[in-house]
Amino acid sequence: MEAVAALAGLDREFGIPGIASVVEGNGGLSKVRITSPQATGEMYLHGGHVTAWKPAGAEEVLFVSSESRWEDGRAIRGGVPVCFPWFGDKKGDPKAPAHGFVRTKAWELESIAQTGNTTTVSMFTESGPDTKKWWPADFRLVHRATFGSELRLELILTNTGATPLRFEEALHAYHRVGQIEKARVRGLDGVHYLDKTDQNREKTQQGEVAITSETDRIYLDTSAAVDLEDPILHRRTRIAKENSRTTVVWNPWVEKAHSMSDLADDEWQKMICIETSNVSDFAVNLEPGRQHRMELIVRVAGF
Ligand code: BG6
Repeated sequence: MEAVAALAGLDREFGIPGIASVVEGNGGLSKVRITSPQATGEMYLHGGHVTAWKPAGAEEVLFVSSESRWEDGRAIRGGVPVCFPWFGDKKGDPKAPAHGFVRTKAWELESIAQTGNTTTVSMFTESGPDTKKWWPADFRLVHRATFGSELRLELILTNTGATPLRFEEALHAYHRVGQIEKARVRGLDGVHYLDKTDQNREKTQQGEVAITSETDRIYLDTSAAVDLEDPILHRRTRIAKENSRTTVVWNPWVEKAHSMSDLADDEWQKMICIETSNVSDFAVNLEPGRQHRMELIVRVAGF
């Protein structure tokens, strides 16, 4: 009862009739649902996590696993998980949660606003005893998602403490594809990358990226936009970014997918992660009182 009343209260405070409402989502978790003439979309308070975006006249752009868990303490498999303040495993602390602690906890809704043809949902999470057991820093992290004919995601970190911070971050976007072997990623030709499937060896990308086996790469020192071309879904997705110097490309392929309990056996064929990020040597340093903003902008066109 209490949860239902809290949800109704959030909807009364933040909802925009006909455009945005706060409703119960999968697993009873609260989500903001956008149904504007320009786009539909969804963002969960759990993880500040965008799980859907479909611009008018197009098909759904993001992938979400049919086997995803939807519960406190677990990460949603698909959409755009927010990874912070580390990426992958935390160095020297094998018990720490992979990809940090913000994707598995409830965030707070800050605002929903309609401006022209776009709807912007802003959620935040802050440091507290739950985060300090993993990381001593004081911070405020905002995820601002703008749904319209393009999807714009901004991750804004404020150092609210008295000491400098160093952190990694990723907008770990799962893109839906028709058939992974047919998809191509352009825009990384000549870029050096760390190959996580080959002991982190540094290699150089030659031409376009085609996925033909497990792929787990951190492309280094690149601020370039990439294009995801999908001849099966007949679309080209342009993935542009700001204040991000690494791009991660990940697909688990057959064996790894089978070992993942929250991904159906054949779903690895329907997804590719292209992650706007600042990881590894490109972690961000932030002085007290300062702010850092990383941004991802996604557009789709016919192909
Ligand atoms: C990618 C990493 O970003 O996320 C991979 O590069 C990892 O190494 C993948 O396997 C999925 O991570 P998780 O924690 O969501 O299973």
